[in-house]
Amino acid sequence: MLDGEKGKAVQKSMEILCALGEIYGADCLIDVSSVQIAGVSYHNLGDAGLEFLRELAEDGRTRVVATLNPAGMDLENWRQLGISEEFAAKQCEVIEAFASMGVIPSCSCTPYLAGNLPARGEHVAWSESSAVCFANSVLGARTNREGGPSALAAALTGKTPNYGMHLNEYRKAEAVVEVKACLKTNADFGALGWCVGHKLKNKIPFLTGIVRPSIDQLKSLSASIATYGGTPMFYVEGVTPEETPKPTERITVTSEDISEAFHALNDGQTDVDFVAVGCPHASIKEIRRIAELLRGKKVVAELWIATARQTKQLADQAGYSKVIQAAGGKFACDTCMAVAPLKGRFRVLASDSAKACYYGRGSNGFKTRFGSLEACVDAAVTGKWRQ
Ligand code: F3S
Repeated sequence: MLDGEKGKAVQKSMEILCALGEIYGADCLIDVSSVQIAGVSYHNLGDAGLEFLRELAEDGRTRVVATLNPAGMDLENWRQLGISEEFAAKQCEVIEAFASMGVIPSCSCTPYLAGNLPARGEHVAWSESSAVCFANSVLGARTNREGGPSALAAALTGKTPNYGMHLNEYRKAEAVVEVKACLKTNADFGALGWCVGHKLKNKIPFLTGIVRPSIDQLKSLSASIATYGGTPMFYVEGVTPEETPKPTERITVTSEDISEAFHALNDGQTDVDFVAVGCPHASIKEIRRIAELLRGKKVVAELWIATARQTKQLADQAGYSKVIQAAGGKFACDTCMAVAPLKGRFRVLASDSAKACYYGRGSNGFKTRFGSLEACVDAAVTGKWRQ
């Protein structure tokens, strides 16, 4: 592959993987069973990124199942979400380049909800920090936090260098976190991720005291802990399907810590003009709840529900989409509030996602309101934050 016998794209990919392997001291390359590729939005890629993809697409073809992270727009409904013609044309070129290489244009950050679901011990090469955390921590699969180019290189070769999270020694918990707070909503789990991230940075935590968390709660925790701490993995006692030696360092997270997280993510504005839920992409369960809350009502703020197109199709079949759209809510399939070009369009973002607040502030300069899904839908209907 490195000598170019399998074509230019494979050669380029192998150069990337070998360079990474040398930097991190990998002893060999290993096979991966699936890939998740981030760096899809034209907003982040720009023309240089598009050119890189075009070059690889000349003769590159995927060797394993490869799915895509969200793009900069809903690929069908972009006009309704206020995306310009020029941006849309470039974004479509990006998607075409990926698709021509055999990458599935799933455009979702929750590949595990859409069929790319590795089992315990499977080696994969995923980018997208929340999905990486979910794969390592909830599924027990093994992946480093890949960048877009290294993930694509893994897709075109079927290989990744054997280092970091592929090895037992790097998957050990480093601190026990005793959770002494009652966590109910998905937002509470986002707040927990904020607390653990701030206290432990990128150390791998072993969380105790969490009783039967749902997949949506673990999805929220994965996104938040990776955003605010940078760890590619956590353990939840009774959930993570992998053993680890118990670390000696111990910390606690109390109800006061959780309140502090809510306080830190709330800027105090009462008027809300943008409500974005589905970070990570909303599950069918979350969409069902939104439909329940919106039935017979009308939104006054812009409401986006970011989700995978596949999940939206389920919502269509179940009749949830009809209820949500009748209320004026909009689906943002294939994209999300962090990768769409939104700067200057809104002032105050309300979200049930701690990660969305981070990017809302950092990338778009929004003020943020953070709370439960119920509080967010209420904000969409009233235009006010009333928690
Ligand atoms: Fe997914 Fe976008 Fe959030 S990629 S995790 S919805 S910032």
